[in-house]
Amino acid sequence: MPFTPPITLIRGGTDSLSAQIVAQLRSSILLGEMRSGESVPSSRALAHRLGVSRGSVVTAYEQLNGEGYLVSTQGAPTRVAVLLHGETLAAPARPMVEAGQQYPLDVLDLTPGYPSTRRLSGRAWTAAWRLAAARPIPQTEPPLQGTLALRTEIADHLRHARGVRCEAEDIVVTAGTSEALALVVLALREHLESGAGKDSARAPVVAVETPGYPAATRALQRLGAILVPISVEADGLPMSALHALTVPPQAVLVTPSHQYPLGGRLSVDARLRLLDWARRTDAWIIEDDYDSEFRHVGPPLPALASLDNDGRVVLVGSFSKILTPWLRLGYLVMPARAAVRRAVLAVRHDLPGPVSGVVQDAAAELLASGAVRRHIAATRRDYAHRRSLVLDALSGRPSTTLSALDGGLHAVLGLQNPARSTAAISELAARGIRVADLRDYSAGPGAADAPAGLVFGYAAVSDTALVRALDHIRAVTAVDAVPG
Ligand SMILES: Cc1ncc(COP(=O)(O)O)c(C=O)c1O
Repeated sequence: MPFTPPITLIRGGTDSLSAQIVAQLRSSILLGEMRSGESVPSSRALAHRLGVSRGSVVTAYEQLNGEGYLVSTQGAPTRVAVLLHGETLAAPARPMVEAGQQYPLDVLDLTPGYPSTRRLSGRAWTAAWRLAAARPIPQTEPPLQGTLALRTEIADHLRHARGVRCEAEDIVVTAGTSEALALVVLALREHLESGAGKDSARAPVVAVETPGYPAATRALQRLGAILVPISVEADGLPMSALHALTVPPQAVLVTPSHQYPLGGRLSVDARLRLLDWARRTDAWIIEDDYDSEFRHVGPPLPALASLDNDGRVVLVGSFSKILTPWLRLGYLVMPARAAVRRAVLAVRHDLPGPVSGVVQDAAAELLASGAVRRHIAATRRDYAHRRSLVLDALSGRPSTTLSALDGGLHAVLGLQNPARSTAAISELAARGIRVADLRDYSAGPGAADAPAGLVFGYAAVSDTALVRALDHIRAVTAVDAVPG
């Protein structure tokens, strides 16, 4: 017989019945009243016992599933998740690890950048792949820009989620952001060469943020671009530094809505000034809009591309955060300027799209069914909760700064002393906790003075795993935990 904890419901209160069930089951699990691996009552049985609709219990179980407290497998009863070390937790976000205390090695992977896919493995995902596989098998390759169905869905998503006025013909489907960047840089090169005469191959000069996204800078360097790193400030890319460049770059790669990794965002005024700078210097702007669907504080600011009246912003987006990087699926939105479109399409003609038609069909089905929209809404709630666990555990501590939490899936714990940061990262690794080193995000001559600290993702792990990891992070970054 599955154990049922006592649940008291207040009808007509401010919290919905399912929210009350979630809160009480969650605390029963955390307090150890419901033990790891134990099965929970069926939704029908619990609904009957509590005198509520089955839907309220199903909703509550789905939420706890998404948070990592429960595990459901098809055909088997839903169970309490096996917590790390088989232990229960005394309470969420309480310090449980003292400096120097050792735990057995379990890998808790907080590598930044990864989303939670727990809510995805459902019916909609399987149905989309089944529909894609059941289609008549085309005898051709997919269209160069991507299938019309997927481009139509992406344009629709961008209009609703990001306020970008675009149509299917503006979209080019890519294999994620890195391939989109490759396409843009090769297009820029094509554009420069066509202007200067075919003989003079010119390496594009691209300004990049530092700290910035290392995968992007690596890809740009591989493609022969000359990078001009610009140190970001609290609000993101400083316009004064762009103005100060004696030789203006031909493009700037920017994360205006949630600077990666530090988290600043450009105000509307700064966005307009950036567009104005690009117009005056005849530069392209590459807008990496990688996680704007997840804004936790305040309304999202309009994408740069939505303010661009001059056709200079190439918006780059990805399904890596809203679904999974396993898909290797992304897109770019071509601006109105004919020269940019011509160059992008010329490159795509010579390097045809690498994304399989079946992947495109399945993604289009998922988008059309509303599953992506629902998934974003559900994961946004999960991430907002996890973000609050991070804030509870790590904010307001001496000699540390916590940032990047206004949106997205990761946090930055800045540490004033680089030696302390290095020691904390090695100590975490010794305890089996993977986080990234903030200094690995900096490039160029200023890298030696780059800000130090930890970058970690809070989305991909369950709440319970996150709470444990945060306790370790707290312990190893306490002022007296490590020398330095
Ligand atoms: C700044 C930034 N841009 C883009 C992406 C997505 O990249 P891709 O679409 O190549 O997976 C990420 C993922 O971590 C990111 O951090």
